[in-house]
Amino acid sequence: MKQNTLKTLVLLFMIIFNSNLQAHADEKINNQELAYNLRHENIITKASLEKKYNLTLGKNKYESAGCAGCHDNGVLGAPKPGHKDSWGSRIGKGWGNIVNNAVSGFNQMPPKGGNESISQSDIENIIAYMVS
Ligand code: HEC
Repeated sequence: MKQNTLKTLVLLFMIIFNSNLQAHADEKINNQELAYNLRHENIITKASLEKKYNLTLGKNKYESAGCAGCHDNGVLGAPKPGHKDSWGSRIGKGWGNIVNNAVSGFNQMPPKGGNESISQSDIENIIAYMVS
């Protein structure tokens, strides 16, 4: 009886341990794929971003609105444009959330990057450019 209990415990432990390993393996794969994965929307690619946003305008605004000042060199940990590892987990929060964070501010990221005059649609174009 006691041995059976022990066996059950060992088995349970192994199951939990294994599912943990599996969860971590999934996490790794997900992180790599997250750059293209909007959890609540469709899988995104540069092509799908181009359909919805104006990446050329986004790039111009990125430079003229002052985003480049921090984001080009990763100042204060700002994610760099096109840097898939930095954007992957952020995109996992959902497009709406990262847009809201850019508008309202997020940790060291000032609201609208400190540029009050920038519009919501400009911000979305800029983010699409940075993510692509
Ligand atoms: C003063 C420096 C600075 C400027 C200027 C700046 N950012 Fe940021 N930004 C940051 C930092 C730092 C982070 C990372 C914040 C964090 O994850 O803690 C960030 C993060 C972000 C994120 C990710 C938000 C998230 O939810 O993970 C977006 C989107 C963003 N910035 C957009 C912009 C846009 C658009 C502009 C220009 C209008 C801009 N930023 C200008 C510093 C800046």
